[in-house]
Order: sequence, then structure tokens, then C-alpha cells
Amino acid sequence: MNVLVFKNAEEATEKAYDIFKKSFENGLKTLGLATGSTPLTLYEKIRTSGWDVSHVTTVNLDEYVGLSPANPQSYNYYMQEELFKYMNFKSTNLPNGMAEDLQEECERYEQILKENPVDLQILGIGPNGHIGFNEPGTPFDSITHVVELAPSTREANKRFFDKEEEVPTKAITMGISSIMNAREIILLAFGPGKADAVRKMVEGPVTSDCPASVLQNHDHAWIILDEGSAGKLKR
Ligand code: PGA
Repeated sequence: MNVLVFKNAEEATEKAYDIFKKSFENGLKTLGLATGSTPLTLYEKIRTSGWDVSHVTTVNLDEYVGLSPANPQSYNYYMQEELFKYMNFKSTNLPNGMAEDLQEECERYEQILKENPVDLQILGIGPNGHIGFNEPGTPFDSITHVVELAPSTREANKRFFDKEEEVPTKAITMGISSIMNAREIILLAFGPGKADAVRKMVEGPVTSDCPASVLQNHDHAWIILDEGSAGKLKR
């Protein structure tokens, strides 16, 4: 992994955009996307880029179980609003959280990933070190699966919902090995709320207790931080 620290989120996002741009110019075919507040500025830059992305397929990391694409809290809705409705992607893919048979849906999604190997994956990190919805304890060889969300994840995400009870308890997520298959990865983390997770990811042991620490084993992972999230790094 390559760790880069910038003064603020804006400068960090600028760097992420540069890497993305290079990958795009080098013929990126499949783009892995994340949701959450961290990549919002990056998506704004991408959607105003005016690029022709008609040869690019997107695959998202995860989706809540039980939320339809019309639900403003669903990740499908977020992606439509932040990126998809502005751009001419060849195809866009998210797990279907409304699928009747969730196991079958995981298999369908894993097949999409097999057919569309990810060239560049955008990632955030949870305060507990999760990537996608792979919570602490998730095996590194996991593929797309249904997860029970950790209480700390539901707590962190309740800001997007009217009531805590409305935060879904389950999600479908790409597994850790599905994420590690990406040729190149950009993980963005901003603010002191991520500092503990960032320290464990970068300087801690590679352990499923901090799923993001697996990125230490990825040769082309960019960890792009602001001073806040890098605040607890020793080196
Ligand atoms: P955030 O979420 O970008 O909203 O902080 C990141 C994550 O939980 O993976």
C-alpha cells in the first residue's frame, strides 16, 4: 500500500481524482464504487468531467437489504443522484437488496464481478475498520455475502435516517477477496473520527479484526488521507 497524507480533504480528493483520471486515460473498463460521505467531492468532480464513459461498467461495493432503489437511503438511489444520472456508463451494477433469494443474489453479483474484473476500486473505511460492509471478523477469503451490520456501523449510518429503527440490519456486500481482486484501489479517509481505524489499517497487524488492514497486502492500493485521519500514525 502507498500512504499519502494531504492537508485537507479537498487536496486529498484532488489526488484521488488524478489517479482516477490516469486510470481512465489508460483504458479503465470496470470501475468499483463506494457510497458514504467520503467520496462525494470525488463524484462531483467525475460527473462534471464531461467524459464519455460509454465503455465503462460500474460495480458498487454494497447495498442495504430491504431498501428499494426508490428509497432515498438506498445506495442505488445515492449512486443515481451523485453519478449515474449525469453519465453515460455502459452499465451500472449494485447488489439488489430487495431480492427474494439473497443467497442467489450474492451468486449473481459474484458472477458479474467475475465477468467484469475491477480495474480501479474506490473505497472508504468505517470507524471500525470495515471496507464495504465487511465488518471486523470477516474472513479475508470472503466473496459477496449477506452481512448483519455491526451496532457501530448502524450507529454511524443513522445520521442518514429519520429514526434509528429505520437503519437496516442487513446488507449485501462484496467480500474482502472480491475487493482485493481489483487491479488498483483508492481508499479515502477524512477526519479524526477515522484516525484509529487508519492507524490499525496502516500500522497494525494484518488481521480480520481490522478488515482494511488486508490492503497492506495489495501492491497497488493508494491510501489517501487528510491530516485528521492521519493524526494517529506514528511513522
Ligand atoms: P463514510 O463511510 O464515507 O460515510 O464515512 C465510510 C464507510 O463506512 O465505509
